[in-house]
Amino acid sequence: MDVVKDDLKQQVEYLQQQLHKQEKMASLGLLSAGIAHEIQNPLNFVINFSKMSVKLLEDLQDIVDNCTDKLDENDVADMQDISADLKENLEKIQEHGERAISIIRGILLHSRGKAGEMLPTDVGQLVHEYVWLSYHAMRANDKSFNISIKENIQENMPKVMVVPQDLSRAVLNIMNNACYTVKERTGIEGEDYKPAIEVTVALTQDGSGNGELRVDIADNGMGMTPEVKAKIYENFFTTKPAGQGTGLGMSITHEIITKNHNGKLLVESEPMVGTTFTFIIPVKIAR
Ligand SMILES: Nc1ncnc2c1ncn2[C@@H]1O[C@H](COP(=O)(O)OP(=O)(O)OP(=O)(O)O)[C@@H](O)[C@H]1O
Ligand SMILES: [Mg+2]
Repeated sequence: MDVVKDDLKQQVEYLQQQLHKQEKMASLGLLSAGIAHEIQNPLNFVINFSKMSVKLLEDLQDIVDNCTDKLDENDVADMQDISADLKENLEKIQEHGERAISIIRGILLHSRGKAGEMLPTDVGQLVHEYVWLSYHAMRANDKSFNISIKENIQENMPKVMVVPQDLSRAVLNIMNNACYTVKERTGIEGEDYKPAIEVTVALTQDGSGNGELRVDIADNGMGMTPEVKAKIYENFFTTKPAGQGTGLGMSITHEIITKNHNGKLLVESEPMVGTTFTFIIPVKIAR
């Protein structure tokens, strides 16, 4: 009798813990949706004012063009150079503002728990794009930093059915960690160490419209101890200094691969050798 009681008690405790975790995640979702929503408005101002400024600049240019005979030739040339630069800058503000808006839309979509739609996707192209997006994002903070990135992407792959915005987020999360770890190791070992990341994409098909997609992302960074490796899919688990990691990247990636795509996410890692993340997902070949 006591054994049954203990068992029940454990189950109740387990369920209570799960409930608590879910409540935490739900309030995090609400919080991020709230923040995302609030940021949309000022961002719209940024974008619209930069659009308006481009128009004003064009008007100003017209006025200058109409009185070139009254001005010094060199001054006119300078003005034209400056206004061309200004226009370019304003367009950059607009472009990146719009990028931020689209990221926020993605957050809003995710935090509402709305499942993404499976769409015919060129997975080779998707992986390629997000690998380089991550690389450039890291280089934006440190221009001197170089990694050798090798891509083995199977050629002439047919499109397959996946949720593109989810899969790209998964690739980005894994790549961001890979870039971070090779950078960290560079800081420790210096010149002798050659940071490298290798990405492989392959698709096997059975001839009746079913396939298996395999993506490997291997880095030669710091690697992980078995203790760290055991925790990477937990929400908020991070070994990064405060402000550099939220510890959500791999838990989101795990959910995307295993739940949203019925796939498997595997990891091999050895300290001071490197880490390889592999995801394998069953896919339908798009017609
Ligand atoms: N390629 C890797 N090499 C070494 N350690 C890794 C690697 N990928 C993940 N880790 C470990 O797993 C932890 C959790 O990773 P995760 O991406 O979930 O969070 P994070 O990178 O710390 O923060 P963020 O939420 O910003 O992604 C990391 O802090 C790190 O310790
Ligand atoms: Mg991460």
